[in-house]
Amino acid sequence: MSGQQRATELEPIERASEDELRALQLQRLRWSVRHAYENVPLYRGKCEGAGVHPHDLRTLADLERFPFMQKDDLRAGYPFGLFAVPREQVVRIHASSGTTGKPTVVGYTRRDIDTWAALVARSIRAAGGRRGDIVHIAYGYGLFTGGLGAHYGAELMGCTVVPISGGQTQRQVQLICDFRPDIIMVTPSYMLAIVEEFLRQGLDPAATSLRTGIFGAEPWTEALRAQIESRAGLQALDIYGLSEVMGPGVASECIETKDGAVIWEDHFYPEIVDPATGEVLPEGARGELVLTSLTKEALPVIRYRTRDLTSLLPPTARSMRRMARITGRCDDMLIIRGVNMFPSQIEELVLKLPGLASHYQLELTREAHLDQLAVKVECLETIAGDGPLRSRLRHDLQGSIKATIGISTQVVVCDPGSIERSAGKARRVIDRRPAR
Ligand code: DLL
Repeated sequence: MSGQQRATELEPIERASEDELRALQLQRLRWSVRHAYENVPLYRGKCEGAGVHPHDLRTLADLERFPFMQKDDLRAGYPFGLFAVPREQVVRIHASSGTTGKPTVVGYTRRDIDTWAALVARSIRAAGGRRGDIVHIAYGYGLFTGGLGAHYGAELMGCTVVPISGGQTQRQVQLICDFRPDIIMVTPSYMLAIVEEFLRQGLDPAATSLRTGIFGAEPWTEALRAQIESRAGLQALDIYGLSEVMGPGVASECIETKDGAVIWEDHFYPEIVDPATGEVLPEGARGELVLTSLTKEALPVIRYRTRDLTSLLPPTARSMRRMARITGRCDDMLIIRGVNMFPSQIEELVLKLPGLASHYQLELTREAHLDQLAVKVECLETIAGDGPLRSRLRHDLQGSIKATIGISTQVVVCDPGSIERSAGKARRVIDRRPAR
């Protein structure tokens, strides 16, 4: 398909001028802030506390004066206190499990569901998906937004949807072989588990019908993209989202550039702030992504602190700005004996060493008041019996972590299959340190 043909398939706003886009954003932003202020007492209280009123919002830059919302606000309003419409108008609930205490509950009106489906359809189209494609959805269905979010978008797009959900890895392989899907939507870590299952069954994972993978819901590196593309023989695209702001499809990558997820700015207004001070950072600086919903009815979020660390990049394939790959979350950052680091930095180093697999886990312990980091990583099946090579890999990884990140770790090269596989988001860090 030629570039020109593809361009005509885009929605007008995906090709709009910056002026048109900003004008639409301002109009929608004013509606969204007023909607939250008038219908969510908790939000009105925050605005009153900060001495701002929706009529103070005259330009997009005025948003800076408004208070942030965060996960704690959703917890404080548990379960339905942040809804801006009567509960009867909420047609769907999703929730995140939450590691401590109550889950975070989110709701959608009929129109919110339609907007979400349209944005996921737009994301699938951006990834090169077409009407009539078969889409294998291995994100979990249920309270998690991944499965149902992808599902409604793929159906709206006119695709044939296979709603297998996560888990049952043998069956995933069987259905990929039998139904011959074009696209798979799944977490990158679970994709690797599916690839391994192909190999275990003596099948070639690079020879399937799959043309494209739309991967997200957890951080993943460029190195992992390269590995998935070569092992699974497909194009790997990034999709980003979070349940508080909608679910998958807040931002998504375009096949023609593969240069970072485009934020669907006609529905979400992005800012980057300093995670410590909350101060808005200049365009291009790396910091915490803050998102404001522009069209959501049931649960408007104004300046929502995502905790995700990234930077805004100028538009390329679309009229809207992109986000750089997420390097981690503010709350994922590990501080090991004073050095700040993210699990994704370890992933990059692991994937540079041929012989190591992409399954790894970090374990934190404390000995004599000092934090210790153990890096457990699997070796490839082909070298599992080679003791000297394994110990060289252990030594090399320990050395590269020390040289690049600056911390001493204890690396353990373990047998293939010994690190737990998750059917959804991978658990990369196990913290065994006693609370101080
Ligand atoms: O994970 C929604 C989703 C489902 C996105 C399927 C993409 C695909 P939550 O469970 O609320 O929602 O988790 C949101 O996951 O704040 C990020 O930290 C992380 N995350 C999501 N997508 C990406 C991505 C879904 N592409 C949290 N890269 C977010 C890195 C991601 N991290």
